[in-house]
Amino acid sequence: MNSSQDILIIGGGIIGLSLAVELKLRGASVAVLTADSKQPTARAAAGMLAPQAERIPPSPMLDLCLQSRALYAAWVERLEEITGLKTGYWRSGILAPVCQNESQEQVHLSNLNSHWLDRDTIHQHQFGLGEEVIGGWWYPDDAQVDNRALFRTLQAATKELQIEIIQDNAKEIIRQGNRVFGVETTAEKLQADRYVLAIGPWTEKLLNIPVFPRKGQMLSVCVPEDCAVMQALQTVLFGTGTYIVPRQDGRIIIGATSENVDFTPGNTPAGIQSLLTGAIQLYPELQHYPILEFWWGFRPATTDELPILGASAWENLTLATGHYRNGILLAPITAKLLADSMLDRKLDPLLAAFNYSRFTFSKLT
Ligand code: GLY
Repeated sequence: MNSSQDILIIGGGIIGLSLAVELKLRGASVAVLTADSKQPTARAAAGMLAPQAERIPPSPMLDLCLQSRALYAAWVERLEEITGLKTGYWRSGILAPVCQNESQEQVHLSNLNSHWLDRDTIHQHQFGLGEEVIGGWWYPDDAQVDNRALFRTLQAATKELQIEIIQDNAKEIIRQGNRVFGVETTAEKLQADRYVLAIGPWTEKLLNIPVFPRKGQMLSVCVPEDCAVMQALQTVLFGTGTYIVPRQDGRIIIGATSENVDFTPGNTPAGIQSLLTGAIQLYPELQHYPILEFWWGFRPATTDELPILGASAWENLTLATGHYRNGILLAPITAKLLADSMLDRKLDPLLAAFNYSRFTFSKLT
């Protein structure tokens, strides 16, 4: 590619592909530069769409997350129509059990649907919870998507829409004055009119923008075939330090550690032990289920745990990074707001809270 597309997105993860699809559907010519189609960032996720269970306090971030959750059903429906694939979107609700000696506090927002369930009610609501569960919050509007299926669907959508995918490593963003001039890859120099940086935890490798990896280890188990329907886990359990996410196909995802270990790969006994201890406390039946898989990924974290969205110091470079724990949730709103600003010059006031300039840089390059 050499100036053949108007917009080059650097990063082919959930965020980069969501934006590519949105831009293309609105008529833009767009290409995606991606180093790794296996996506270690999207892997550090269970696909919870959980602004309430994550206890995000009232803020522009909560507004952003709620808007994105509201877009989800129609967004995945459109992707499923384009590709004929399923994303596993499921309005399963999320239950946040509270164990003895844990705080019952939640962020109380009268306009949002949430219910405190006492001990008897929560054990009736979900069979098989641990004895230590003394109550919990029920968030019926939080949901989930199968993040791996979503990623496959987005990849298929780029194919259907004939979005150019360039498989290569971005080595350098070449800048001239206040504009980006091109992107140096291992093989060539790519040029476009406009660029988007969406490489999550690897952002600092290309620009001096403070995004760093926060590792998440995860595992999955499988519901045994002889498990009575009545006993099956019907909803996400969001505990302190551990969550349990049942999929409709019988897998159960257990996550996730949160570790500042740079890009150190691999699962560790301590990481997996802490997840299993937390999961078995919440839902003891799990200790008998066969283990399917262990894996890990790197969340793109920022110091204030908010994403970096919109304008950059270069007038033809847009930022879409730093989504930390909420990248899967924020994909549709990120795609919508950035497409609005890039194609229609419609700048949603919400974006101001996520501008890169909130960080002070010693140098901007
Ligand atoms: N979104 C949940 C996590 O990052 O672990």
